[in-house]
Amino acid sequence: DPALVHELMTTAEAVAREAGALVHGGRPTRVTVHATKTSPVDVVTAMDLASETLVRERLAELRPDDGILGEEQGFVRGSSGITWVVDPIDGTVNYLYGLASWSVSVAAVVAGPDEHGAPDPRTWTVLAGAVHSPTDGRTYVAGAGQGATLDGAPLRVNDPQPLDRCLVGTGFGYLVERRRAQAVVVADLLPRVRDIRRLGSAALDLCAVAGGGLDLYYERGLAPWDMAAAGLVASEAGAVVTGLRGRPATDAMTVAGPPGGIDPLLSFLEDHGADATA
Ligand code: IPD
Repeated sequence: DPALVHELMTTAEAVAREAGALVHGGRPTRVTVHATKTSPVDVVTAMDLASETLVRERLAELRPDDGILGEEQGFVRGSSGITWVVDPIDGTVNYLYGLASWSVSVAAVVAGPDEHGAPDPRTWTVLAGAVHSPTDGRTYVAGAGQGATLDGAPLRVNDPQPLDRCLVGTGFGYLVERRRAQAVVVADLLPRVRDIRRLGSAALDLCAVAGGGLDLYYERGLAPWDMAAAGLVASEAGAVVTGLRGRPATDAMTVAGPPGGIDPLLSFLEDHGADATA
């Protein structure tokens, strides 16, 4: 239903922008990163919580029957069949350090069946999503079957390129053992590509693929809220968003790029068993 998708797109954008303004305005001009071990984390946690609380309040007003899954406050089931999947700050380390690449991500999904009833990227259908980048005021919006835009202008992935001409984005999880494995994959990939970027916000990485700022992106370990909105932005901009060996994009592996152009990266990651180890 295009009218419903449009309503969800408008809601996602409004809520992401409002939460982004709150978080952006609330960042101390200088976070004392090295002052104590816990304070920087506490600053981020406090803003994450404030942002998610605002999103939950707004959605309860605008869409009272929908469920919500957020990074900070978990899953609350709704009665409408629609669930909002929210990352109140994607790119928390950049936010902490005052670097520009962080975002607020809000998506509306119809969840497939899963053992806990929570939205699962293997089976969900994403209807609408918005990714707002407060530091430059940019907002990416997509609706299922409606295309993807950046501040109203249509987005399109780059044409497929040989791997050695591709700018490739990736990211790393927080687990030390996984990082060791990810470093091995990166070390072998780096000599084969134009270059590698680690922007620090998975949602903005996927949006960069949508807009041609990256040719390709891959990452192991994404949470549902990292990929819900931005995965739709990428796919509506013409990207293939997938896992390895024909599996859907999940925490095991998310790869995005233009049809055809993505294939050499998929083969490389499959050869390296990157969804099992890296
Ligand atoms: C992280 C960012 C980062 C990615 C990590 C994510 P967070 O999200 O998206 O780019 O590499 O895997 O956990 O923790 O800042 O919400």
